Order: sequence, then C-alpha cells, then structure tokens
Amino acid sequence: MHKFSRRHFFKATAGIGATVSLFLQQKVHAQHRGAIILCSRGEAWGRKVLQPAWDVLAQSNNILDAIETGTNVVELDPDDMSVGYGGLPNEEGVVQLDASIMYGPTHRCGSIACLENIKTPSSVARLVMERTDHIHLVGEGAKRFARMHGFREENLLTDKARIAWLKWKENLSDADDWLPPAEGEYAEERTNGTINVLGISADGAIAGITTTSGLAWKIPGRVGDSPIIGAGLYVDNEVGAAGATGRGEEVIRMCGSFYVVERMRAGLSPQEACEAACQKIIDINGGPAKVNFNDKFIAVNKKGEVGCASIQAANGQEPELSYISQNGFQVVKGRHLLD
Ligand code: GLY
Repeated sequence: MHKFSRRHFFKATAGIGATVSLFLQQKVHAQHRGAIILCSRGEAWGRKVLQPAWDVLAQSNNILDAIETGTNVVELDPDDMSVGYGGLPNEEGVVQLDASIMYGPTHRCGSIACLENIKTPSSVARLVMERTDHIHLVGEGAKRFARMHGFREENLLTDKARIAWLKWKENLSDADDWLPPAEGEYAEERTNGTINVLGISADGAIAGITTTSGLAWKIPGRVGDSPIIGAGLYVDNEVGAAGATGRGEEVIRMCGSFYVVERMRAGLSPQEACEAACQKIIDINGGPAKVNFNDKFIAVNKKGEVGCASIQAANGQEPELSYISQNGFQVVKGRHLLD
C-alpha cells in the first residue's frame, strides 16, 4: 500500500514538477544570489571541481546534479590517489571506496562502503538515496546495485597506486621474505585523503557529498567516516552542512559533521564550529600530547558563510577550502589548533 501510494504520487506530480523546474531555471538564469559550492581542497583541485559544478548549478539550479558533477571530476582522475579511480588500495592491493550524499530539503541520504571496481561511488550513493528505501549499502551488494543501474566494473588500481602499495609491502618488515624495494626506501605517507563537496542552490537547498578511497593499506572491509552519515558528512537545511577529512576513526567516535552542524545551530559561526570539533577530538583523546594524527572539518551555514579548521597544519600550511559563488572562485584559509 505504502509503495503503491508513493509511486502514484511521483507519477501524478511529474507534470507539475516539470513546470516548476522550468520556472526555477528561468529564475536562476536571472540571478544566482545566495548560491555557493565549496570543497575541502585549495586552488588547484578546487578550480577543477567547482567550475563544472557551478556550470551545472547555473544551468539547472539542481544542487545535487552540481555537487555530483564536481565530485565525479576528482573520482575519475587517476592522479588523485585518495579518491575514486587511482586511490591507494587496502593491504591486499584492492581499492575499496566509501562515499555518502545528503540532501537538506528532504533530509534524505545515501551511502556506500567498501565498493570495488566502480569509479564514481558518490553517484552510486546518490542512487541509494533516490532509488531505494535504504541508506547504506556495502561491498558486494553495493557493487551489484551499481551494476543494476548500469555502472561498468573497471580496474581501479592504477600502476602508480600499485607500485606505491608494493613498496609499502616490501618495506613492512626486515624479517619477512620480501626484500626492500629495488628503488630504495619507501617514503610515501600513509594517507586518508578525502574530498567534501557542499553546496547551496539559489533557492536555499543545501546538499553535500563526501567520497574517498579511505586509509591507505587499510584492513580489507574497513569503513571510514566518509560513508557514515553524521561523521564524514551531515546536512540540515535549517542550519547548514559540514564534512570531514583525515583520520576517520576519530571523526566517527565524536559524530564529527553532526557535531559541527549542531554547534552552528547553537549559534557558532562555521569557523568556530569547525574549531570546536577539532578541539573535541583533542579533548576526547586526552589532550594535545596524545594526538599524532590529523582531522579537518569544513562547514557552510545557510547564510553561505564558510569555515574550516584542522588539528594539525598539514605540510606546515593552514587548512583551506575553496568556494565558488556569483562573485567567482575564492580560496579561504582556516586555522589549525596544534603546533
Ligand atoms: N576520512 C577518510 C577515512 O578515514 O577513510
């Protein structure tokens, strides 16, 4: 009964939807005031991700289409070794992807974890949100779901990522049968890079995506914060949106992005809320001396104000985000808490 009524509703309202959408498109072409899209990267990736996202938003006023388009750019790029195709694999050399999406006006969300062989996990997460009555699909089930929706299975392990993984394996121990890498010492950092893409349309719809290949060399099956709603991503249309990058285990155990949004609801600015979340992680770990990892939060409130903070300064730099709005592209530096 429930399913019948819902289908009936979608069919009956399809024509009205088309008319409303045409009206909105005309309105948005006239002005993009209030619209903003931001991501957790600086100049180089920010421009690559945000310009195509903005182009889609300007044409359609569909914030989900916009942030998905921008996110797909980095997921499909083999040069980024922390997201999608080209991401660093788990300890067995298999790339396993995590992603989530959330849409403020309906408070609906979707996510996938440990997805193998599909290049654009954020698009699969969107389909979980829009085409199922579930929120979270994992592993083999998530892959079968993606294939049912026409996604092609492809090898996600690039040569660059495979060689990095092999060097890590060969350097693990002096007491095993693997000799050190022929090229010498292995120096690559064990990363858990990720990207958050958040946005607000001209008519105030807030949405967000977080996507990652997760912690390099992780134990197979490990799920990070990125696909956990409230941890790696949270959106509330009454308040704003937040996303996290960095060591996922810490973000999960303090419900990081939910925490940031709730601090904004309580009156903090996005910058203050991101700093409060980093401080919370430091506190629950027993203080600065116990913290030898990094996490970073970015946030936007419904007024379009943004902020970002990290625990440490990665590579000696303040954390940054970039955003695009009707005033063009900007990079914003936030603040780190520990030296
Ligand atoms: N923040 C990404 C991860 O820990 O998987």
